[in-house]
Formats: sequence, structure tokens, C-alpha cells
Amino acid sequence: MWIKKVKLGKRSYDIVVGRNIISSLGACIKKLDIGDHAYIITNSLVKMKYASSITCALKKSGFSSTIREIPDTERSKSIAILSAVINDLAKSDLRKRTFIIALGGGVVGDLSGFVASIYKRGVAYIQIPTTLLAQVDSAIGGKTAVDLKEGKNLIGAFYQPALVFSDVSLLKSLGIRQLRSGLAEAIKYGVIKDKSLFTYLEKWFKDILKHREAALEYIVKRSSVIKADIVSRDEKEEKGLRTILNFGHTIGHAIEAATGFKKYSHGEAVALGMLIAVEISQRLKYTSQGLATRVEALINAAGLPTRISGTSLRSIINASFRDKKFIGSRNRFVLTTGLGKTKIVENIPLRIIEEVLKGRIG
Ligand SMILES: NC(=O)c1ccc[n+]([C@@H]2O[C@H](COP(=O)([O-])OP(=O)(O)OC[C@H]3O[C@@H](n4cnc5c(N)ncnc54)[C@H](O)[C@@H]3O)[C@@H](O)[C@H]2O)c1
Repeated sequence: MWIKKVKLGKRSYDIVVGRNIISSLGACIKKLDIGDHAYIITNSLVKMKYASSITCALKKSGFSSTIREIPDTERSKSIAILSAVINDLAKSDLRKRTFIIALGGGVVGDLSGFVASIYKRGVAYIQIPTTLLAQVDSAIGGKTAVDLKEGKNLIGAFYQPALVFSDVSLLKSLGIRQLRSGLAEAIKYGVIKDKSLFTYLEKWFKDILKHREAALEYIVKRSSVIKADIVSRDEKEEKGLRTILNFGHTIGHAIEAATGFKKYSHGEAVALGMLIAVEISQRLKYTSQGLATRVEALINAAGLPTRISGTSLRSIINASFRDKKFIGSRNRFVLTTGLGKTKIVENIPLRIIEEVLKGRIG
């Protein structure tokens, strides 16, 4: 089993990555001394596929468990579901020391982490990510949240898990669209921090889309190292370091919002956002045409979208002004200055953003 530590003093934790490692889950949790009862939050699809192997592994190490299903939709990241889950948790949590397990993709992970952060002023939780996107990104770093109708992730907390347990064998049931979404976040790490990861993805993306575990394991490990190191140095995005993880997200979130969170998955919207960010970087002469061509070629070959449809320029611009990454009316973009390198730039003329977006719409 491979382990990467997220170093955060008393809040440090391990990211465990491997293949077919569920049988060692109980032993990993035992060492943490966080309780004796697991309240597992998941959805019906993931429950059907993996809940029994998880509960068996827990039982083997003496843990009891309860499973709580939430609907399989982004709308589960809502105050209504949050409140229903917390009420249920309080009812079932009578005599035992309970900790929470998030078993699922980013939706389950974000909601469960937020439940853990506020229930009894904070209980321990474990992330068992089951989508590629969650393994490379959302399960790590303690950003937890629910959405409001006014925008995504508007209520949340920084609350670190006690363990991230990424078994790439759980990804075998993942659909191609979800694999592509996760791949988009891995491409992001390549562009912002790791030229060799980007080159690896150019060479091996087909293996990832074919569920080849060696390739999946490689990108989950590389992404975990990059994210863990950034989070260890700037846990709450106060030093400008964690900000680079938002590469592609400023416009990506706006595209998701402008299309009602229905047309594009998170990863697909991020892919489009990255293309916009790379093109703006090129217009402002921070990077070359060559890089823009390479990033677009990889995104396109991976089957991610390269053109925006189902919305208008105005809707995307309006949605971007509501995003947390816009400070007041000033915009702030993470741009690239070459593979593996970034620059945060504020106040990019709206005209340039609009021109680049216009070229991608339709
Ligand atoms: N907290 C963070 O740092 C962070 C970072 C990026 C994204 N996010 C959030 O993550 C969410 C998106 O996450 P996601 O892409 O994982 O979406 P998701 O959680 O909706 O999962 C996508 C789909 O895959 C299914 N699924 C999950 N595991 C599966 C498996 N092993 N086999 C088959 N199907 C499986 C789910 O049931 C769902 O239908 C968004 O809400 C986004 O805001 C959070």
C-alpha cells in the first residue's frame, strides 16, 4: 500500500492509494482511534456495488456500521439533504462513538465532510472516493460544502478528513464520461504543476479510459502528491498557493452554472475552463500557441468538450460575476506561463475574456 501524508500538524492524515485494498480498510481505521461505529453516507448505485465489501472489512476489525443513502444527484449537496442526514445520524448515534465514512464521488464527499464538520461541532470522517475525480481531487484537502440556489458550494467549511482511502479497483464500474471528468482534473495538475504528468497523460490517456489499473494508480498517486503538498502549505487558500488548483475553474464554474448544472459534468466544465484560461494566457503573451495547441489536443483526444453549447456569452459572464473567485467586480484568473507553471492575474479586461469565450461558443 502506498501512502502520502497531508502534513497539517495535529490535523495531518494519510492518503492511501492501491489496488484491491478494501480488505485492509479496517486495520487502517483502527490505528486512528476515531470511534467504533461507522455512519456510511453513499448513494444507491455505489451502495449496490461496494457497500457490502466495505461493511465486511469494517466488521473484520470490530467496527459496526449504518448505511445512509442520499439521492444520486448534485442536488444532494443541499440544505434539505444535509438536514435530513444530520437528523438521521442523531437518531442512530445513541451509545456509540460514531465516525462518518463518505463512500462515493465528489457529491457524497462534499456533503459528508460538511455533515462531519458541523455535527456535534465536528466528528471524524473518512473519504473513500469512488470516482476518478474524487480520488485525484475532491476527497483531498478538506473543502466541504453544499450548494444554494444562488450558487455552488456557497455554504461549507474547511474540515480535513482523518484518512483518504483510494482503491483504484473501485473505479472499474465507472462510466466513460466519469473517467473523462476525472481525467480533466488530472490534466489540470499536469498544466499547473507537473510537466511529466502532462506528458504521461498525452501518452497513456487511452489506458485510463480503458480502466487500466496501472495507469489509474499512477495518476491518482501523482495527483495526490501534488494536491497534498499544496494543501499542506496553504490549507485555507490564504497564501495564494492553493489558488492555483482553481485553474480552469473560474470560467468552468460559470459554464456549469449558466447551463443549469445539467449539460456539463464538473470535469467537462473544467476542461472548457482550462481551454479558455490557456487561450487568455496566450493572448496576454504569458505562453505560446504551442502549449494551447497541446492542451486542446489532449482534451479533445480524451473526448472532453472543446466547444461550449446550450448557453450564451451573457449567461456565462453573468454567472462568473457571482462566483466566489471574483472579488467584488474584479476578476482573478489562474493562467499558465508554460507547462507546470502558473501565474495569478487580476483584472483581465472583460473584452479579452469575452472574445476568447465567443470563439468557443456554438
Ligand atoms: N471538495 C473539493 O475540493 C472538490 C473538488 C472538485 C469537485 N468537487 C465537487 O465534486 C462534485 C463532482 O464529483 P464527481 O464528479 O465525483 O460526481 P458525483 O459524485 O456526482 O459522481 C458521478 C457519478 O458517478 C457515480 N459513481 C460514483 N462512484 C462510482 C463507481 N465506482 N462506479 C460507478 N459509478 C459511480 C455516481 O453515482 C454519480 O452518478 C461536484 O459537486 C463538485 O463541486 C469538490
